[in-house]
Amino acid sequence: MYVCICKGITDHQIRSAVNEGATSIGQLRRELGVASQCGKCSCLTREIVQEALSESMPTAEGLFYSAVA
Ligand code: FES
Repeated sequence: MYVCICKGITDHQIRSAVNEGATSIGQLRRELGVASQCGKCSCLTREIVQEALSESMPTAEGLFYSAVA
């Protein structure tokens, strides 16, 4: 789905950028141009970033120390 109409940025592009290391809307603005014109997409972009970051966080079962304890 298109998130940023001004720049034609989709949620898929935002998730891909987060998976490649972007962690803030400022980084996405520099890399993709999202939220760099009218700014109406800022809130939705922030939500997608938070969601993508939480999905990429390891679970406790995947951590080394959970196997040791
Ligand atoms: S909709 Fe993203 S800057 Fe306008």
